Amino acid sequence: MARPLISPSILSADFARLGEEVRAIDEAGCDWIHVDVMDGHYVPNLTIGPDVVKALRPHSAKTFDVHLMVTPVDFWLEPFAKAGADIITVHPEAGPHIHRTVQATRALGCKAGVSLNPGTPAKMLDYLIEEIDLVLVMSVNPGFGGQSFIDSQLRKIAAIRSMIDKGGHEVLIEVDGGVNAETARLCVDAGADVLVAGSATFKGGPEHYARNIAALRGES
Ligand code: DX5
Ligand code: ZN
Repeated sequence: MARPLISPSILSADFARLGEEVRAIDEAGCDWIHVDVMDGHYVPNLTIGPDVVKALRPHSAKTFDVHLMVTPVDFWLEPFAKAGADIITVHPEAGPHIHRTVQATRALGCKAGVSLNPGTPAKMLDYLIEEIDLVLVMSVNPGFGGQSFIDSQLRKIAAIRSMIDKGGHEVLIEVDGGVNAETARLCVDAGADVLVAGSATFKGGPEHYARNIAALRGES
């Protein structure tokens, strides 16, 4: 698939019409569907649970990229895997044993991601990089859509790119938060493979989704 892959965050979709919104971004040409799960505890916001993921699953065959911002996280791996998640990404601060959590994710048949908050160093990945499929670099503090991109995270993306390339690892770098057409280009130049975008995908309503996604890819 051509890079960057685009994974719209449905946090910015119309929650009253979520199934239609997922179909609309699928038809508009997105690559993955990013699902932000927040528990009101690890982050100060509440979103959706596995039943909603299960209900959305028939609306798109694309990769469901599930980002868990919940603690303790381990209990939730199986419900989201059963609901239809393809990738499950967790924060190392959200459970006592991150290495065990990524192993458990893979044992459930899902790809395993680790997410680094803006203040969490790339070094956190040193002994995880061969166990995971994806690194999610948070370019805002997790909890809300519509925040501004934190520029220092570009250095982190570049450091992780170099770690992956030097080690010959098959790990994707995904960036999440404040991604728009302009910051998308900076992320790709720094080495990102996948871009999450909530506000920048859903702005203007369904007739704009295809154009918004193309702009994030740098096609317009
Ligand atoms: C924040 C979420 C993001 C967020 C992105 O905690 O993980 O996925 O919805 O939204 P935008 O693209 O609007 O910054
Ligand atoms: Zn997210």
